[in-house]
Amino acid sequence: MVSEHAPQPAAQVLVASNRGPVSYALREDGTLDAKRGGGGLVSGLSAVDDKMWVCAALGDGDREAVRRGVGEPGVRMLDIDADVHADAYNGIANSVLWFVHHLLYQTPVEPVFDAEFRRQWASFETYNRAFAEALAEEAGEGAAVLVQDYHLALVPGMLRELRPDLRIGHFSHTPWAPVDYFRLLPDDIAEQLLRGILGADRAAFLTRRWADAFIGCCAEILGGTGHTRIGVHGLGADADFLRGRAHEADVDERMAALREQVGPGRKTIVRVDRTELSKNIVRGLHAYRALLDERPEWRGRVVHIAFAYPSRQDLAVYREYTAEVQRVADSVNEAYGTADWTPVVLHVKDDFARSLAAYRLADVALVNPIRDGMNLVAKEVPVVSDHGCALVLSREAGAYEELGADAITVNPYDVSATAAALHEALTMADDERTARTKRLAAAATALPPQQWFLDQLEALGQG
Ligand code: F6P
Repeated sequence: MVSEHAPQPAAQVLVASNRGPVSYALREDGTLDAKRGGGGLVSGLSAVDDKMWVCAALGDGDREAVRRGVGEPGVRMLDIDADVHADAYNGIANSVLWFVHHLLYQTPVEPVFDAEFRRQWASFETYNRAFAEALAEEAGEGAAVLVQDYHLALVPGMLRELRPDLRIGHFSHTPWAPVDYFRLLPDDIAEQLLRGILGADRAAFLTRRWADAFIGCCAEILGGTGHTRIGVHGLGADADFLRGRAHEADVDERMAALREQVGPGRKTIVRVDRTELSKNIVRGLHAYRALLDERPEWRGRVVHIAFAYPSRQDLAVYREYTAEVQRVADSVNEAYGTADWTPVVLHVKDDFARSLAAYRLADVALVNPIRDGMNLVAKEVPVVSDHGCALVLSREAGAYEELGADAITVNPYDVSATAAALHEALTMADDERTARTKRLAAAATALPPQQWFLDQLEALGQG
C-alpha cells in the first residue's frame, strides 16, 4: 500500500524504456488492436499525475499506429528505422549486453567483436540518441526523467548534454556484470556504457549486489562513479492486484483444467518463465529427471508444470533453447510417463490467468536462474498461493537477497543439489511450509511497485 503521506512529485515525470505500456497488432481487416502491458513500471507510474512515457515502436502494428497518429495519451512511441532498431535491440542489447550481465557467453568461442559488431553499435548509438532527443523535446523545465535498462544505457549522458536542467535517473532491471566479465567488452565500449549511465544524477539497481558490481566496474575502468549517486530499490510484488486477479473466474477455470491434467492426490512442482537462457529451464528439467531417477517413490506422485513462454524469437540462440526445452521435457515423459501419468506438463502459450492458477496450486515453485536481476515469479507465488508453497530458489536471483532465508536455496548449476532441494521441498511439513510462505509473502510485498517508483523519484530529488 502506498502511504497517505507518500511524497507527490511536483514536477513532470518522464519514463523511457524500449518496451512501452501498450502495443498494437495489425488485424487482417486493417484495424489496430491495442494491448496494454502490466508490470512494475506501469503500476509504479500510475502514482504520478503529470507524466509521459517514451518508448520504441516494436513491430508493424506499433509503426502503423504511429503513422496513423493512433496512441494513448501520455505515451510517445518512437518510429525508429526498423533495421536500426533490430541492430540495437537484437544485436547489441539482447546479444551483447544481456549476455554480459547474465554471464551467458561460451567464452572459448564467444564473444567476437568485429566489424559487424561495430556496425550494430553505431545503430545502438542512433537508437539511444533518438530517445535522448525525444525526451529533450518532451520534458518541461526541471522535469524528472527515469531511463530504464540496458537498452538505453547511453541515454542519460546524451540527455544531460542536451538538457542540463533535467533530473535524470537510470534504473537497471538486470544484474550488473562483475568487472572481470564486463571487461570482455572492447575497452572503449565498456567506458562509453559506464559514462552513459553516469550521465544520470542517480543510477539505481534492484539489489545491493548489482549496485556494488557497477561501482566496481566504475572504480576499475574509470576511477570512480564521479558525481552520480548510486541507489538500490528492490521492486516487490503488487499484492493488491495479484490477490484480486488470482481469484477471477478465468483463473478458477484454468485451475480446474490444471487439476484435471495433474490427476488426484499428486503434488505439483511449478515453474513459470519466459523461455530465456538465463532462466535455466533445461537444468531444471534435468533436476526433475534426477529426482524421478534417484527417488522412485515420486514416480506417479508428482507432476512438473512448466510454463515456458517464447521470448526474443528473432534470435537463433533463443529459438534453439526453446526447442531444447521441448526436447528435454519430451524425453522425461518418454522415459517415465505411464498411461495415466504425464511427469512434465509443458505449456508454451503465454497465458497470465493460467500462470496465476499454477501459482495458487503449486506445492513447490522452482526458480533456478543462472542469474536474474530480481525474478518476480519468486515473489508472486507466495502472495497468491492457496495452501502454502515451498520455494526452491537460485542464490543467483536478485530475489535471493530478500527471500533467501525462507527458501530452499540452490547453486543453479548443481543439478544433483537441485534434485535434492526439490525432494526437500516436496516433503516439507505442512505447518512449516505455511509459515515460510507467510514470511516469503511479507518479504515479497515489502516494496510494492507504486512505492518503488515514488522512492526513486524522491531520491532523485535529493542532493
Ligand atoms: O530487465 C529485463 C527486461 O527488460 C525486463 O524488464 C523484462 O522482463 C524483460 O527484460 C523483457 O524483455 P524483452 O522486452 O526483450 O521481451
